[in-house]
This record gives sequence, structure tokens and C-alpha cells, in this order.
Amino acid sequence: MTKKETWSQRFESALHPAIARFNASISFDIELIEYDLTGSQAHAKMLAHTGIISPEEGEQLVAGLEQIRQEYRQRKFQPGVDAEDVHFAVERRLTEIVGDVGKKVHTARSRNDQVGTDTRLYLRDQIQQIKSELREFQGVLLDIAEKHVETLIPGYTHLQRAQPVSLAHHLLAYFQMAQRDWERLGDVSRRVNISPLGCGALAGTTFPIDRHYTAKLLNFDDIYANSLDGVSDRDFAIEFLCAASLIMVHLSRLAEEVILWSSEEFRFVTLKDSCATGSSIMPQKKNPDVPELVRGKTGRVFGHLQAMLVIMKGLPLAYNKDLQEDKEGLFDSVNTVKASLEAMTILLREGLEFRTQRLAEAVAEDFSNATDVADYLAARGVPFREAYNLVGKVVKTSIAAGKLLKDLKLEEWQQLHPAFAADIYEAISPRQVVAARNSHGGTGFVQVNKALIAARAEIAQ
Ligand code: ARG
Repeated sequence: MTKKETWSQRFESALHPAIARFNASISFDIELIEYDLTGSQAHAKMLAHTGIISPEEGEQLVAGLEQIRQEYRQRKFQPGVDAEDVHFAVERRLTEIVGDVGKKVHTARSRNDQVGTDTRLYLRDQIQQIKSELREFQGVLLDIAEKHVETLIPGYTHLQRAQPVSLAHHLLAYFQMAQRDWERLGDVSRRVNISPLGCGALAGTTFPIDRHYTAKLLNFDDIYANSLDGVSDRDFAIEFLCAASLIMVHLSRLAEEVILWSSEEFRFVTLKDSCATGSSIMPQKKNPDVPELVRGKTGRVFGHLQAMLVIMKGLPLAYNKDLQEDKEGLFDSVNTVKASLEAMTILLREGLEFRTQRLAEAVAEDFSNATDVADYLAARGVPFREAYNLVGKVVKTSIAAGKLLKDLKLEEWQQLHPAFAADIYEAISPRQVVAARNSHGGTGFVQVNKALIAARAEIAQ
């Protein structure tokens, strides 16, 4: 169908050229072409299997569709705006290749169930790719964590120094976020992988089709139970956009930390030249563009989620052209998540070096061992709140005197409370402060080593 012609015999005149452009989705839904071809091949096989068309016709359709696939891959098939959308483009080319039998491919089908099928096949594939990218990202986090169990880094609450932690523990927090992201995509996938093919335009079809047959050929787990729901449901896309948004939330948190860590104020990491850029005016600068871009790109994925929710809100059954608007945001989200994961993985793998000397200084230069003094007394029978108040006092006088807790003399400790003994110095050393937090899931080295083993096993599955 070309839009110089009327839309169908029912119409008197052709579409206004601007309206044809406005209506067309070919510029973006061409992304779906391989899935459209696969879906149409399954549909043609089913038509032959059920006797709706002859076996020979079925074979001709399947072969013609395969030829289009080759033409597309060799860039010989590049439909323009006159084709309206990928579905029309394929049907038109198919008819050019196989002749009139091509006009049978759309028997017992509508573009409504067709586009739903294509989008699900696309998303199913993309989810697999994102899941394996997440695994790579997790693998790199683990590689670094395994080298830095004993490297300590200040831990923060309210972005104020709180208690030091093992750097491995810190990185494993991101591993866990990525693990949930990976699992979440698996959950989403279960609802993506349902076939709407055979729902027709909205009400099913008069032909004796076999929906389970096409579902099986296309490796769908199940079929939509209700045709109206099947053609108009986009829950699966919204769920994916939620999962994609959470991946970006997690990446942007790590990105923000890398940006902070690489600043002169923190100096916890050095950015290597392969992953940093300079300034066009300030010759001394090295900028963390990669994490900044990841942080920035997070916004567009959230936007696509919001847009999809609004598209669906109040949409009456069944298909409405509004649904054509599902694609660009979905494709962009997929591409953004993939590119961001890839960039962060490379950044971690080869673009970042932890400044261990500087980190060792950082954890020794503050009062982040104050809780351990209180815990020391509490372990010796002093009620915790009482101990807490005593330590608050000593922190105050130390700050006034320009001292750290480790600088206090034993007499000073004992004046504060007789329970203090010489082992207080060991108890408040950064290494011991970390080692002592050996509760399940804590930063103690024993716990962290266990967590590393569990994490390795998780991604080896
Ligand atoms: N290009 C359309 C879309 O993406 C295909 C379905 C068109 N269906 C229709 N009834 N006009 O949604």
C-alpha cells in the first residue's frame, strides 16, 4: 500500500502528505523487522498447518519472508515513509517477491496482534542481553572487591563520616542491587513472554487458527486468555520500564559516588585517561564524563516510564493508535540501559584506580571510631546510652584540643571511665573497627569473605 493511493477502496482520496508522515511509524518500528518476519513466518506456518492456506502457499510465504530478512541484512530493503509501518512494508515487499499469495499472509491476523507479538519478541531478546550485561557488571564489581577486602574506606550516613567499612563491602552493596535488577528482569520476562498472536484486531477471528501452535513456534510460554486484553495490554512494557528505571537508579548512585571520589575533596580514586576527558579551557582538568552521563541519562528512562503510564491511563479497550507511542521510549530505554551498563563496566574494569594510601589516611583521620568506644564500654557493662554520652563528651573535648581519639593517653581514658584499659587503642584502630562488625551482612572481614564466595557462586550459576 503506498500512500499516493487511497488507504483502501473505502476511501475517496489519498492521505495528506503531512498526515501520512505524522501517522507513520516506519522510521522507528523498523527496529522490529526481524521479529516481524519471524512472527509472520510462524503465522504462515500455522495457516498451512490448520489448512487455512495450502502447504505450498505456506512454504512460499515463509521463503519470501526469509528473502526479505536477507535483503534487510544486506541493506537492500530500506522501506520509506510511504510504507506507513514495518508491517505494511513487509507485506508489500512479500507480495512483490512471491506474487498474489503474499496477500494471504494477513489472513486471520491484524496489525494489532502482530505489533504486540513483535514488541514482546523484541523485548524478550533485549531483556536477555541486559541480563548478561548485568552479569558482566557484577563480575567486574567482584573482581575489584576481591582485591580490596582489607582496603578500608570511610562509610557515610548523611554524607558525614560514620564508620569505616571494607571497600569490598561497599562494592558488594552494588553487586546486590544488580542482583535484584537481574532477578527483576527475570520476573518481567515471564509476563513479556505471553503471545497475543491470534487475538486479531480485538475479538479473535472467524478462521480455525491454532494460537498454541504459533506460541510454541515463537517460544512463548503461554497465550493471552482474552483477545481484547491481548491486543491492548502494555503492562509488560511498563514493568520493563520500571525495572530499567531501577537499573538506572542503581547505576546513577554508583556514578555519583565515583564523581565524588574522583574530586579533589575526596581523592579516593584516580580516573585513567581512557575513561576521562579534559576541558577545552582549563588545562589542569580531568572530568568524570562517563559517570556524569550515566547519572544524566537516568532521567530519560524515568521519563519514558512516566510517558508509558500516561499513555495507558484511561485508554478504552481495545487497540488505540496511542499504543504506537509505546515504541520509541521502549527502544530508547533499552539502548540507554545497555550503553550505560557497558560504560560503567568498562569504567570499573579499566578506568578507575582506588588510591589505597589516601584511603588508609582517610579512615585514620576522623572520629568514625567513636561508636567503637561506646561499644567498648557497653561490652564491659556500662549501659549503652551512658557510654554514648561519655564518648560524646570526649569527642567534643578532643575536637577542641585538635586531637583524635587515638591520641588520648590511657590516664585520660581512665579518668573518663575506669573500665578503659590498654586494649582500647587496638579496639579503635580502623582495621579492628571494621573487623569487629562481624554480624551477618556486616563489614567484618569474615562476613565480607563469605559474601564474596556467595556472590561468585551466584553469578557462576
Ligand atoms: N504501527 C502500528 C502500531 O505501532 C501498528 C498497529 C496499527 N493498528 C491499527 N489498528 N492502526 O501500533
